[in-house]
Amino acid sequence: MASLGIFDSGYGGLTVFKAIRELMPEYDYIYLGDNARAPYGNLSFATVYEYTLECVTWLFNQGCDLVILACNTASAKALRNIQQKDLHRFPGKRVLGVIRPTAEVIGDFTTQKHIGVLGTEGTVQSGSYLIEIDRFHPELKVVQHACPLWVPLIEANNFDSEAARAIIKSDIDAILKEDEKIDALLLACTHYPLIKEVIQQFLPEHVNIISQDVLVAESLKDYLHRHPELESKLAKTERKQFFTTGDPADFEAHTYLFFGNNIEAQQVKLVNK
Ligand code: DGL
Repeated sequence: MASLGIFDSGYGGLTVFKAIRELMPEYDYIYLGDNARAPYGNLSFATVYEYTLECVTWLFNQGCDLVILACNTASAKALRNIQQKDLHRFPGKRVLGVIRPTAEVIGDFTTQKHIGVLGTEGTVQSGSYLIEIDRFHPELKVVQHACPLWVPLIEANNFDSEAARAIIKSDIDAILKEDEKIDALLLACTHYPLIKEVIQQFLPEHVNIISQDVLVAESLKDYLHRHPELESKLAKTERKQFFTTGDPADFEAHTYLFFGNNIEAQQVKLVNK
């Protein structure tokens, strides 16, 4: 029987995995974080594609029939290439990202029809959200802003210090300045739900924060419902395994923050790492 694979450059995908696990505890999951090479946020298209493909291939080889890229940067920079150029070598395997399911429902969160998108440099530069949101909701006005310091702050668990709060505030001020009609702010990085409360403090009350974890989990549930041929091959023993390309002890120390549980992690040695 097959498992569901969940991939992120590091820890951020655990926020998505947490929501998926809460909605669908019955399946077997394998999580892989490429911590040794994270963050991906400022890496080139070619590098994110190469690293992501390597990790997805590893997950396929572990028996995952479906892999979720629980990372906006990898979804923006690698998903389409993998789907178009590589999947034919893996019959029956599939890869999904987090951008499309978010873009599909984003219209539900705004009455003013003005959306702000915060993400890594890579996600913002790719323009993926502008393209995907326009495809489903051409009536929405979307502005984006990159927050290159947020992932390192979150991974260092240092987001409540005075300096960190000043950085977070200045990024929020910048996007609000760009379009003062924004009434919904998308956290387009799977790390950002962790600082939702800090973000909230710097936003006017009428601005909705959209975090992807639950959206992606619901969309996956719907996808499995629509693909019984894939769903029926999934093991349902509630097994959860965690792998990292980095230091397992480090990974375990961070997991409580992102996943809400202590876990045991194992190290993966990838060929090109
Ligand atoms: N969590 C990843 C995302 O959603 C970004 C982290 C990184 O820069 O590696 O984009």
